[in-house]
Amino acid sequence: MSFLRIQSLSKTFNRVVAVDRLDLDVREGEFFTLLGSSGCGKTTTLRLVGGLEKPDGGEIYLGDKCLVSERQKVFVKPEKRHMGMVFQSYALWPHMTVFENVAYPLKLRGIKGNEAEKKVAEVLGLVGLSGLQERPAPALSGGQQQRVALARALVFSPRVLLLDEPLSNLDAQLREEMRRELKALQQRLHITVLFVTHDQIEALSLSGRIAIMRAGQLEQVGTPEEVYFRPATPFVRDFLGKTFLLPGKIVQITEHGIRVEVQQVGAAPLALERTHLAFSANGLPAVGQAVMIAIRPEQVALSGKAPDREQNVMQAELQSVQFLGDRCEYTVTFGSETRVLVSPATQRLKAGEKVFLELKSEGISLWPREG
Ligand SMILES: Nc1ncnc2c1ncn2[C@@H]1O[C@H](COP(=O)(O)OP(=O)(O)O)[C@@H](O)[C@H]1O
Ligand SMILES: [Mg+2]
Repeated sequence: MSFLRIQSLSKTFNRVVAVDRLDLDVREGEFFTLLGSSGCGKTTTLRLVGGLEKPDGGEIYLGDKCLVSERQKVFVKPEKRHMGMVFQSYALWPHMTVFENVAYPLKLRGIKGNEAEKKVAEVLGLVGLSGLQERPAPALSGGQQQRVALARALVFSPRVLLLDEPLSNLDAQLREEMRRELKALQQRLHITVLFVTHDQIEALSLSGRIAIMRAGQLEQVGTPEEVYFRPATPFVRDFLGKTFLLPGKIVQITEHGIRVEVQQVGAAPLALERTHLAFSANGLPAVGQAVMIAIRPEQVALSGKAPDREQNVMQAELQSVQFLGDRCEYTVTFGSETRVLVSPATQRLKAGEKVFLELKSEGISLWPREG
């Protein structure tokens, strides 16, 4: 059931279209992420939802309540939307203590005295900052400031939490720690989160569903596994993780799967089962059709010995190895193609050796190709 519903939302700044007729449905209790590169309209979308910007067109609903509609001339003020917001910069008030910062949204809503103190203490406990009430905001570390910003967004028990790249300003180790805490907190509170990030790892690890955003519109909405293994568009395929492409041709289609000849490689055709077929409904794959075989490099098993099975194995020559600590990058050549693969750094393979590439059907997607 949809909880936070966005319909045909648009916003333009001096002829720059930031959000372009965007539709979105977020369910109650869901951790929903907008993922996209810088400038694709994530922050603007979040600010429109929070009421910090007015849209040029479109509607936003929370449950049955219309929050904004150009057409119906509705605009609910930010503080009446029941939404807590955390910005990338935290935006704490530097002249206030931790307590004053966190209590501020309560003051705005007419909650004072004992009740306010109780709520602040509770939420500071929740984010692990008990005892820091009287600390001036500037005397906090980055991670602590982040927690204060989160406490301030949560203190009035909002119905939705809006988070704009809240982890981006933390160093790598702290970011990972906060990521896990944020997930745990969301699951404990069952709160609906609309999260914005350009970081795929954050999006994949935190979200119930992800919307991949591009130029103010959505490319695909799905679970992390869906968008990663079953990308709907070439943009999503190439944006998330790594992929290498090989030209191929369909030679057989049976009820079990599809056989595809890899062109210019000289290997036996691949037998693909449970492979993602990225074809539109009216363009189903046909025998003889030219396709692109898209392979996740981490789904290819590389070894110096011939594997037991022969199906979906290609021979290659190892050009170079780059040691990355926990894994290695292997540059391999097969036929006239050269590609980079990633494998655990457990095998001792050297440049110039013959190697075998074992492809997993599940790590492959098949795409129509022109010509
Ligand atoms: N207040 C503003 N005035 C002018 N242009 C803006 C403003 N806010 C955003 N934009 C433009 O709108 C587009 C989307 O920006 P933004 O929503 O901040 O993207 P993101 O958060 O995905 O990086 C960008 O081209 C940006 O330059
Ligand atoms: Mg932004």
